[in-house]
Amino acid sequence: MKHLRSIEELDAAGILSLLELTDHMVEINARPIPKVPALRGKNVVNIFFEDSTRTRLSFETAAKRLSADVMTFSVGTSSVNKGESLRDTIETVQAMGVDAFVIRHKSSGVPWQISNWTDASVINAGDGWHQHPTQALLDCYTIRQALGRKGGFEGLRIAIVGDIKHSRVARSDVQAFAALGAHVTLVAPPTLLPPSIAGWPVETSQDLDSLVGKVDVLYLLRMQRERMSEALIPSLREYTDRFGLTADRARRLGDSTLVMHPGPMNRGVEIAVDPSELPGNVIIQQVANGVAVRMAVLFQLLGQGDSLA
Ligand code: NCD
Repeated sequence: MKHLRSIEELDAAGILSLLELTDHMVEINARPIPKVPALRGKNVVNIFFEDSTRTRLSFETAAKRLSADVMTFSVGTSSVNKGESLRDTIETVQAMGVDAFVIRHKSSGVPWQISNWTDASVINAGDGWHQHPTQALLDCYTIRQALGRKGGFEGLRIAIVGDIKHSRVARSDVQAFAALGAHVTLVAPPTLLPPSIAGWPVETSQDLDSLVGKVDVLYLLRMQRERMSEALIPSLREYTDRFGLTADRARRLGDSTLVMHPGPMNRGVEIAVDPSELPGNVIIQQVANGVAVRMAVLFQLLGQGDSLA
């Protein structure tokens, strides 16, 4: 495996083997000094053309824990503002010696373009509405850890609720959850579903109330208003009434139902209760596991032949 641009680059066995490698990384992260020399001498460059808090810091932390050198390039302060093209930017940075590019960009497909211009590995940290594979892997890992599952997700019922249309997280999660055998239901008003979901391995519903209490995982998505070009819902208040995790729905969730969110959360919109009060809340574990999963991905792509100390 050279790149990780999409979940489709992995099959179920590939996902499971990365999740097993993540177990080692979780063990390393629990040590008094959470650092190993595995990627010493490798250079990882994060290029974020879009805003990010957790994904950028998570990749940076992951690379440092494996002793890679890491540079983070924030487009706001770069020569991109002087009109430099994407290709020239990549070729310029590549000339300094790069083993992996971690890319976030508002346009779908950019990680594939970049992999045509460089010999380095390319990891997609989110391209437009399209893919965010490390988010899907950390979500799979979190479910597996919280439910004590070893193999796949057979028999597991997962509802993904909210703005599916604009969500690269939903697209990647659906592929990963379904590859592992889960039954996935997308819950959203029709205006927030993609124009065509033919071929997606999912069911759809507009009735969150009938699913609360029946699913094992309730996965909430952020209302991605920065990606909407028109009003797709009558009002945020009506959205919360129908599709938000309200106090009433929270009461009807089983104690073992996992509540997940990729962050950043819009409190009072998709989640109208304090998640820390929910027994099945694993939102903070998702963030913690993000570091370990990204360590596993970096090690898998760059660490061939090396052992994990
Ligand atoms: C998401 C993203 O940027 O795709 N956040 C993340 O990476 N954890 C989801 C979002 O923006 O809503």
